[in-house]
Amino acid sequence: MSWSDRLKAQSRSVATTVINAAWDRLRLAGAINAEHPLARRYGSMGRGSYVAFPQGDCYNAHAIHLGEDCFIGAGTTLAVGMPTETYPPDSPPVIEIGDRTTVGKDCWFVARHSIVLEADVTIAPNVYFTDHNHTYADPWLPVGKQVLQGFSVRVGSGTWIGTNVVVLPGANIGRNCAIAAGAVVRGDIPDHSVVVGVPGRVVRRWIDGEGWVPPLTNEVVVVEGWPVGVRPTEESGS
Ligand SMILES: CC(C)(COP(=O)(O)OP(=O)(O)OC[C@H]1O[C@@H](n2cnc3c(N)ncnc32)[C@H](O)[C@@H]1OP(=O)(O)O)[C@@H](O)C(=O)NCCC(=O)NCCS
Repeated sequence: MSWSDRLKAQSRSVATTVINAAWDRLRLAGAINAEHPLARRYGSMGRGSYVAFPQGDCYNAHAIHLGEDCFIGAGTTLAVGMPTETYPPDSPPVIEIGDRTTVGKDCWFVARHSIVLEADVTIAPNVYFTDHNHTYADPWLPVGKQVLQGFSVRVGSGTWIGTNVVVLPGANIGRNCAIAAGAVVRGDIPDHSVVVGVPGRVVRRWIDGEGWVPPLTNEVVVVEGWPVGVRPTEESGS
């Protein structure tokens, strides 16, 4: 390699290091935590909560309430209405995220009515939540101009939602459910359900006195040294 090629390679290597170090610092510095003045843009943000940088779009933040120790991943959109729509300063909460709930990168909350995630919910990246439909009853009027209808969305405490799930208006998901990657969920989902597919259907449920129905097929293997969380109990049928 000629000396000029070596110099170019070295310069490139230095530039890569500098850019990555700067980006890491930028990401840390740009995150919004509860102590930062920008946290005041939200209706409330509890102690220990954190919105990662770069933040996604955020409209009418005063109608968005975050509990304590929440995490919102980078690029996640928290939209109450659209930028041209104003919600009065004293409007009731439209997006509510409970204590210790974590939302992965690049998720979407597009709300006009009510989306509630209770405590300890885990949302994978790229999940879409909406609480409203465009009605289409008038065959001549563009659908986008017709009346919007809102239906509350609720995700019960302790539920886990896999990647690429779509949660439709009116979905009422119980507690400690597992929603499989790619599912499209609407309607009522009982507590402790496993939901898969489009439309989402319950393929497994915990029933008191019977355990998991049908029984679990995937053994829970605890790998020593992994951050595995709390081990399953005897009663959990694992
Ligand atoms: C749902 C999931 C947790 C497995 O749960 P499980 O209770 O062990 O489910 P099983 O493997 O026993 O599968 C039960 C049925 O659901 C089906 N199924 C499982 N995951 C599915 C999915 N994502 N889409 C469609 N069907 C699925 C299985 O094929 C099986 O169907 P069958 O009974 O007709 O054969 C897992 O498949 C999944 O989707 N994980 C999401 C991973 C993810 O998004 N991670 C992000 C990290 S936060």
